Amino acid sequence: MANVNENFLKLQDSYLFSTIAKKVAKFTEENPNKKVIKLGIGDVTRPVIPAVLSAMHKAVDEMGTKEGFRGYGPEQGYDFLRNAIVENEYKNLGIEPDEIFVSDGAKCDCGNIVDIFGMENKVAITDPVYPVYIDTNVISGRSGNFNESTGTYENIVYLPVNSSNNFIPELPKERVDMIYLCFPNNPTGTVLNKEELKKFVDYARKNNSIILFDSAYEAFITEKDIPHSIYEIEGAKEVAIEFKSFSKTAGFTGVRCAYTVIPKTVYGYTKAGEKVSLNKLWNRRTTTKFNGVSYVVQRAAEAIYTDEGKKQIKENIEYYQENARVIKEGLQEAGFTVYGGVNAPYIWLKIPSGMKSWEFFDMLLNEANVVGTPGSGFGPSGEGYFRLTAFGDKENTKEAVERVVKFGKTLAKHNKI
Ligand SMILES: Cc1ncc(COP(=O)(O)O)c(C=O)c1O
Repeated sequence: MANVNENFLKLQDSYLFSTIAKKVAKFTEENPNKKVIKLGIGDVTRPVIPAVLSAMHKAVDEMGTKEGFRGYGPEQGYDFLRNAIVENEYKNLGIEPDEIFVSDGAKCDCGNIVDIFGMENKVAITDPVYPVYIDTNVISGRSGNFNESTGTYENIVYLPVNSSNNFIPELPKERVDMIYLCFPNNPTGTVLNKEELKKFVDYARKNNSIILFDSAYEAFITEKDIPHSIYEIEGAKEVAIEFKSFSKTAGFTGVRCAYTVIPKTVYGYTKAGEKVSLNKLWNRRTTTKFNGVSYVVQRAAEAIYTDEGKKQIKENIEYYQENARVIKEGLQEAGFTVYGGVNAPYIWLKIPSGMKSWEFFDMLLNEANVVGTPGSGFGPSGEGYFRLTAFGDKENTKEAVERVVKFGKTLAKHNKI
């Protein structure tokens, strides 16, 4: 008899996006003449940039020649890409190419990283949260059961972020070993400045904890004092692992390429208290379970760092940033309180008092024919909030905002906002 990993049975089914899809399908069926605009999904819509496309074509052609053909590549990524990442992302931060591990996605990396950590570790996450951090710790057995009444897993430390703490998580009140931080944040679109992030780095150094820093939305940062990498913070190279992705930066959600940075100065401990290099463990895990990202895709990623590539990517990011601005300013004009949207493609809207996230979803769909994501789907502290994304088409985004503004004005008339 083969037993199953019963931790999977503790997982809560995520009905979030399937429930949204069902509600939208029903609405569309009942209202075939209404144009529904979706500002709910976190996927990009701009096509792959020409610089990347031509690098891919070239690499594909190389693969068809005797001299250019490549079989298995290095599991950690080709030197040409690891060097380009160091040169362009970490030039003055002292990160070296063998501290970069190229992968097929930050989602997999954030999930797989749990392999190298002990089961007894206490894990902290911010709430609301990108669900991968929590679910992968549940699967690997670091949580207790799900508590229906609180909406949280036992044995996981939740760090709520909401308008009362200005979306800045407090340091854990109890000692934790692993802390997941995602900034710019999905879903709230908020950021930590250097001083705020330093508090976490100092906490981790004091407590021998590790920070797992997801920086998938770094390219959207516009303000000055916001760190683009956790390694800008003094001491972070002793305690932090950084996850980065080309998905949102360069429209690679379908192409698939990302990387994880583990400085050689980051250590975990055995139960006997011996220091173990996490870079070495991750390298071992990677060479055992992964055979590398395809040559064609790594050449595509490299092309992002050419002058042409940088220029084209900037245009795409600016396109989404402009959408974020239009959404944010439109909603504010309509009287809503909104967060995020300045250093991130996500706008986090405070729902008019007394209303739940799903009620607001239904109302917005019915009255404005606009789809967003209920904040409660990202954790208990997301209740009362709603996420809109800037990844849509410019014209549709404008139209959606006009409709939401109109809807907001009717709510305001009834003193609901
Ligand atoms: C916070 C965060 N990290 C990671 C990812 C996934 O990145 P990738 O496409 O590289 O797997 C996402 C995708 O939405 C995300 O929101």
